[in-house]
Amino acid sequence: MSSTNDMHAFVTDLMSRMTLEEKIGQMNLTQPSHGDGEDEIVTGEAKNNGTEEKIRQGLVGSILNARRPHVVRRYQKIAVEESRLQIPLIFALDVIHGHVTAFPTPLALSSSWNMDLIQETARLAAREAVADGIKQVYSPMVDIARDPRWGRIAEGSGEDPYLGSRIAEAMVRGYQGDDLSAPDSVMACLKHFAGYGAAEAGRDYNTVDMSRLKLQETILPPFRAGVKAGAGSIMNAFNDLNGVPASADKWLMTDVAREDWGFDGFFVSDFTGINEMIKHGVGDLKAVSALAVKAGLDMDMVGEGYLTTLKQSIEDGSVSIDDIDRACRKVLEAKYKLGLFDNPYYGMDPANPEKIHLAPETRAVAREAVVQSCVLLKNDNAALPLKRAGTIALIGPLANDKRNIPGMWAGNTNIDACVSIMDGLVQSAGDQAKVLYAKGANITDDLDEVERLNIFEKKDAPVKNAMIDPRSPADMLAEAVAVASQADVIVAVVGESKEHTGEASSRTNIDLPQSQRVLIDELYKTSRKTGKPLVLVVMGSRPLTLGWEREHSDAMLMAWHGGTEMGNGVADLLFGDRTPSGKLTVTFPRNVGQIPIYYAHKTTGRPLTADGNDAGEWKKFRSAYLDCRNDPEFPFGFGLSYTNFNYSPVKVNKDSLTGHQKLKASVTLTNTGAYAGEETVQLYITDPVCSRTRPVKELKGFQKVSLQPGEQKEVIFDITTEDLKFFITENKFGWEPGDFIIHIGTNAQDTQTATVHWEKSASVKRPKCGPQP
Ligand code: BGC
Repeated sequence: MSSTNDMHAFVTDLMSRMTLEEKIGQMNLTQPSHGDGEDEIVTGEAKNNGTEEKIRQGLVGSILNARRPHVVRRYQKIAVEESRLQIPLIFALDVIHGHVTAFPTPLALSSSWNMDLIQETARLAAREAVADGIKQVYSPMVDIARDPRWGRIAEGSGEDPYLGSRIAEAMVRGYQGDDLSAPDSVMACLKHFAGYGAAEAGRDYNTVDMSRLKLQETILPPFRAGVKAGAGSIMNAFNDLNGVPASADKWLMTDVAREDWGFDGFFVSDFTGINEMIKHGVGDLKAVSALAVKAGLDMDMVGEGYLTTLKQSIEDGSVSIDDIDRACRKVLEAKYKLGLFDNPYYGMDPANPEKIHLAPETRAVAREAVVQSCVLLKNDNAALPLKRAGTIALIGPLANDKRNIPGMWAGNTNIDACVSIMDGLVQSAGDQAKVLYAKGANITDDLDEVERLNIFEKKDAPVKNAMIDPRSPADMLAEAVAVASQADVIVAVVGESKEHTGEASSRTNIDLPQSQRVLIDELYKTSRKTGKPLVLVVMGSRPLTLGWEREHSDAMLMAWHGGTEMGNGVADLLFGDRTPSGKLTVTFPRNVGQIPIYYAHKTTGRPLTADGNDAGEWKKFRSAYLDCRNDPEFPFGFGLSYTNFNYSPVKVNKDSLTGHQKLKASVTLTNTGAYAGEETVQLYITDPVCSRTRPVKELKGFQKVSLQPGEQKEVIFDITTEDLKFFITENKFGWEPGDFIIHIGTNAQDTQTATVHWEKSASVKRPKCGPQP
């Protein structure tokens, strides 16, 4: 790879030959126009026409949504053969959790807590995407989200900034590899900068108002981690943040990302994000485009505000040529790093995709990803695993489904190649167990909802995401009960359609739809009558309120939307060929009234319990609800196994430390059950006395450990003062001496603790309480 100096010299020379229009052209991202061989995909209001002619005139820097190699080739050929300066284009796409092979949705995959596996899914997605001509993916979404009403919680890694940071790094490494110009690398794009996951009331695109300290502590760390891992681009958020639309937030882009973190890639707006500032009420198209470029936003996604107004803004002095030069340079540098000037087609071969897409090794990783992502929420009387014997009643609107299992943002997934739960189970059962099937209910009976869930379906399509069965709900129920009555075990596959989550899919009610509750109720009654267990397999890509289902079932597996190999992976778990090991990366509330609810909350002056878990009974004049407990239905980090793990008390190698000494904290983990299994051991730290209030505990480490029955392992965490740091003020990131509580355990609520004392140096003692000087 050439050096940074070579890149600089190359880009400087190129820019010296560019007109102002051509420079602005590099800052413009457009889509294929109608008739160019691609269906138009829009997630907002954008007009695309004359794409070929614009490329010829040097007025396009990047193309979004050209998804077929012959289309990509054609556009690239125009750029490098027919435009004056022959500058190649970047082809970008939303490759969110796999491409043609779908992996579990990001929230699901995060539940694996397996960074190598996550990185591998990104690497394989990159390989499939490049085969289609894509060189930049709009992923990972690293928005920390603590509101399950928000449909895009599905696209991120949950509620925790530490875990979110590790996943951001893994994804960036997986997509980009060591060399962006390698034939199977794509450029990552961290999104949405910033605060998008904190949309008020969980309603998509909504306003965000949050202190800078909270932003720095919870929202920004995964972006910073992604930048440090070398992410080549960042996408701005749609929302306004503390009164400033994120597309025009100079503090975020220039002060924090560029100056503080050293980000040297390029910023791209979200889809018409610049234009939408007009609705935010900060100016007309010319004014908002000027605001965006001056704040540091380099590329305009499909809005053409830059293309149509920046020249005039230069002429009247409202934008300086330096801003244009900076933005244009960043885009050209990205092209240089991607190797496009040397090889604009990066080995793109229209015959290639067939060989790369859905390759056996990719499907094998997809299956493993399903196995490691599923979270066992309940398993009374060892209802699971199932025996490969007798009769299994497989029931539910999602049991024999291929359309919903890819999950949201899976437009390129090959649906025919997906394995339904029914196919997976039947194949895995072989001739040892009989599987009987009944649909039992519609995903929902609400016709408005059905229409919304089918928004991307063709009107006359014979099969859609959500269907109203021609039979009456009563007839479907009767069939389901008849099937269930003959079986040795009932497995009900229930949950959300894929379009229940994702962009613009917020919900105020996160219960399972009523039609499915009625079904579960009937199945539960049947199961009590026959004495045969009821197992719920729950699909969805957000936390759901599952308290009622927990009471009306024997076992519950949160299986998410698992992608192409969902049926096989779930069958591996249901039959006990593998043991569940997933753990929630987001808190599951008891009801929507508890939202926002997350483990790393602050304590009040009147907490319900002293340990901060708030798992206590109601008391007057305590911070609590009259009508609900404070603690969640399932806490962060929660997930059961078929086997049992025993945690020893926490051992520390020192209980008093100074300065930059290292602490070793450990537990002995023993597999006391009958199955081989994996456990994610979690480390949390509490800083109980500080100059400002702090969360009751914060995740600071985790290790996924594999143990055979009877096997024991010591799990050791190295802790340094880096792990104690926080934003003391907006501009001061450091640690304060004193006592620290070290927690190690199986989830955020269930930990063992040890307390250590840490001083800056042996001679200085920390005051017991109160603000630090
Ligand atoms: C989404 C982005 C996405 C973009 C391009 C927007 O609506 O917010 O996450 O990358 O569309 O498709």
